[in-house]
Amino acid sequence: MDLPWGSSSSNKFATTIGLITSNGPYHHNIMACEWTHHLSYSPGLVAVSLSPTKATVKNIQSSKEFGVNLCSTSQSILSSVSGGYSGRKYDKISALKELGFQFYQAKKTNTLMVKEASLNIECKLFNEITFGDHIMLIGEVLDATSNPEKQSLIYHNGKYWSMQEVIKPSQEERERIKNILEKHTKNNHKNLGD
Ligand SMILES: Cc1cc2nc3c(=O)[nH]c(=O)nc-3n(C[C@H](O)[C@H](O)[C@H](O)COP(=O)(O)O)c2cc1C
Repeated sequence: MDLPWGSSSSNKFATTIGLITSNGPYHHNIMACEWTHHLSYSPGLVAVSLSPTKATVKNIQSSKEFGVNLCSTSQSILSSVSGGYSGRKYDKISALKELGFQFYQAKKTNTLMVKEASLNIECKLFNEITFGDHIMLIGEVLDATSNPEKQSLIYHNGKYWSMQEVIKPSQEERERIKNILEKHTKNNHKNLGD
């Protein structure tokens, strides 16, 4: 069955928002991508799942590189503009500059990066795989800079949120849980080569 956009099921997921910067046939561009994921530590790999209709896809397929800028809590307008207009028709970078947002030239790629994001990652295209109605573009990390003063914006239920820490179980509670787990040890794990 389908899991459609905006449905009560889709809306239960909570994600960060990648501001995906690219440069290619549609020139410098930026789009919002809630489906931005960290895939591997070594090598560092990140994935963005994009609908094939996006100008960003054409840019990345042509240049084989892109930027992933995690939107910070002070940048919800950046996300709405990047995600509400297409680079096929609009020069979003110029419009965003006029709105007061700033960009800088990436160190290792020919793309622009977003200032004041919580994390800036420069990527070269590692692989692309079509899954259903989206293309997953996987980037190998060439450079990563995290901003300790910025918190990532959260996207959930079609709205923007900021994170609030939920306290982990206390040491005492973890001891109690461990004792319970020990009572439920499996004895067949050797057969599975663990
Ligand atoms: C918060 C938010 C999250 C989005 N996430 C995605 C996504 O994960 N994948 C996608 O293909 N489009 C996503 N979009 C839609 C694109 O950002 C939008 O269609 C954009 O105009 C594409 O720009 P482009 O044609 O210049 O590449 C999102 C939009 C918003 C506002």
